[in-house]
This record gives sequence, structure tokens and C-alpha cells, in this order.
Amino acid sequence: MSGKLVIGNWKMNTRADSAQALVSALLDHAATNREGVGIAAPAVYLAALAESLKGSRLALSAQDVSRFAADGAYTGETSAAMLADIGCRYVLVGHSERRQYFGEDNAALLQKMRNAIAAGVTPVLCVGETLEQREAGQHLEVIAAQLAILPELTDGDYVIAYEPVWAIGTGKVATLEQIAEIHAFIKNWCLQNIGSSDKIRVLYGGSVKAENAEAILATENVDGALVGGASLDADSFRVVCQAAGKLI
Ligand code: 13P
Repeated sequence: MSGKLVIGNWKMNTRADSAQALVSALLDHAATNREGVGIAAPAVYLAALAESLKGSRLALSAQDVSRFAADGAYTGETSAAMLADIGCRYVLVGHSERRQYFGEDNAALLQKMRNAIAAGVTPVLCVGETLEQREAGQHLEVIAAQLAILPELTDGDYVIAYEPVWAIGTGKVATLEQIAEIHAFIKNWCLQNIGSSDKIRVLYGGSVKAENAEAILATENVDGALVGGASLDADSFRVVCQAAGKLI
């Protein structure tokens, strides 16, 4: 495993013009136009952005994928094969917003992981506890339950992102101790339940921005960052990517 991975999750933001402008700004800089940096753009813009990214090293990512693998009567869905077809290298799976607003459960998420891996798109499984769960002392148990689908995957690479729900879009960042504790827990869980943790990258997400990126990315067992709000501003995202680039 070499270098840190930073993915900007644009969520349901941008328009065709602003998405292209953001990508142009990222392509203009060596800190963002490189291996180990990606953007997760809205599905409707992926194909156009894939054209703009041709020949660059910036990785295109989707924010979600269908749990159905084969073509067919699944109105509104985007399959893993379609994402692969236009050159997506990553796809977010089970982001807390999808779990919360779209009721995604482990059974659906396992299918999504399988489909992405089979299509050659690396899934990024997002896990994390709510504030209530943390206050009730259930955070480790909740995360273990979300990781429980991983032993079902017999082959293929994936990435895990720890995103405490209470730190997403709130400006509240988990402390470095909390981040270190959960990342060590996830790596250890993988070692115990999958037999290896060496090749599994664990990203942190939740109010990562220019000001805190270096400290978070330098924390033990943090292999990169999933960046929401700050990824919509090219300058802020560049600073996060620069911090990641310094820490190999
Ligand atoms: P923010 O960086 O806006 O807190 O969002 C984090 C996130 O959900 C990334 O997937």
C-alpha cells in the first residue's frame, strides 16, 4: 500500500458548468492531478467528467451503485457495469446518508460491494456511528455490525471509510484519539475476521478540511480521507491533498 487516498464526495451538489470548473481547477495542480486523489461526483455528470479526466491520474468515483448487477427493469438504477463502462475507479457504498434516507441495509450493501468488485470498480464501504450510539457506548458494536458483510467477499479490493455520523457536515471533528481508536479497531477487526488488514485502506471522513487535514492524515492507521464540504472548493481540497501527498 503506498500513499494516502483522498476522495472528495461532492454529494448532491454542482451543476454541469460548476462540476467542470472544479475538475479543471483540480487538473491544473500537481497536488490534485495525481494518483491517490479522486472525486465522487453526482451520477448525472460522471460521463462528461470522465471525458475531462481522460489521460489524467485523478480518479473518478460514483457515490452509489445499484444492488442489481444485470441489465434489466430497474428504473432509476445505475449498475456497476455502467460505472466501469465510463471509467469509474471507485464507488462509495453505504454512506450514512444512504443508510439514513434510503434505508440501505447490510444485505443490499453486500450486493453493491459484490457488484462493484465484479465490475472492477473499487468500492469504498462507509461505516460510522450516530451521536446517540456513541453516547450509549455502542460505537464499536455498531461499526462491527456494519463491517460484518466483509467476510462474505472472497476476492477483490475494497476500501473502508470511517465516518462518524455526528461529524459529517457539522464542523465537529472527532478527536485524533477517537480517530486513532476506531481506525485501530477496524484494522484489528479485519485481521481477526478476514485474516488480513495490510491491503485494506481505512479512510477518515467527517469535517476534514484544510485546517485539520494534516493532523488527521498523520494519525496512526489513517490511510486517507473522504472529504465532503471542503471538496467543493478547489483551494481547500488542494490543501487536503497536499497534506496527504506529504505523508507517504
Ligand atoms: P463533510 O466533510 O462535509 O463533513 O462530509 C463528510 C462526508 O460525508 C464525506 O463522505
